[in-house]
Amino acid sequence: METYLKLLENNKQWAKEKLETKPEFFTRLSKTQNPEFMWIGCCDSRVPANQIIGLLPGEIFVHRNVANIVSHGDLNCLSALQYAVDVLQVRHIIVCGHYSCGGVTAVDQNIRSGIVDNWLRHIHDIKREHAEELKGLENEARVNRLCELNVLAQVRNVCETTILRDAWAQGQAVAVHGWIYRLSDGILHELSPVQRGPKI
Ligand code: CO
Repeated sequence: METYLKLLENNKQWAKEKLETKPEFFTRLSKTQNPEFMWIGCCDSRVPANQIIGLLPGEIFVHRNVANIVSHGDLNCLSALQYAVDVLQVRHIIVCGHYSCGGVTAVDQNIRSGIVDNWLRHIHDIKREHAEELKGLENEARVNRLCELNVLAQVRNVCETTILRDAWAQGQAVAVHGWIYRLSDGILHELSPVQRGPKI
């Protein structure tokens, strides 16, 4: 059997099991979504949002891109963020990076990969900004610290969007979190204090 056919089989089985335990599961979800959380994470196949935090379809609104970057010029990310905040009224936005991120490693080691190099310039800026601190670290520790600094920078970027500033100015209760995931043990760590307003 071709591998992709197995996916369709898995899906049928999954839908069947869901219906057996919760007959209304799909009919309820097909009418609306009402997630409490938004996730901004890396594309990496080893960091699947729903699975690692035990959430079902409908419980988290997800945006993923290479190296979990929130760029003020990225209409894709900003559109997802605005929809989550203004329409879905999520209560928590989680920016989640991960250690050993390929995008961050490419920046650390100045590896050329293609179009993505232009996207990763955002992380080169962070690397330059923290050059003094990073200089004192060994290879793996340096990459992992840059992974952390990237999450912190992207949390700040989320908080500085007009979307969050307007929401907070209107008294909307929405918190921004910075987390990082360790591939080697599957554990998430909170990196930044929870941001509940415009001050950082
Ligand atoms: Co990554």
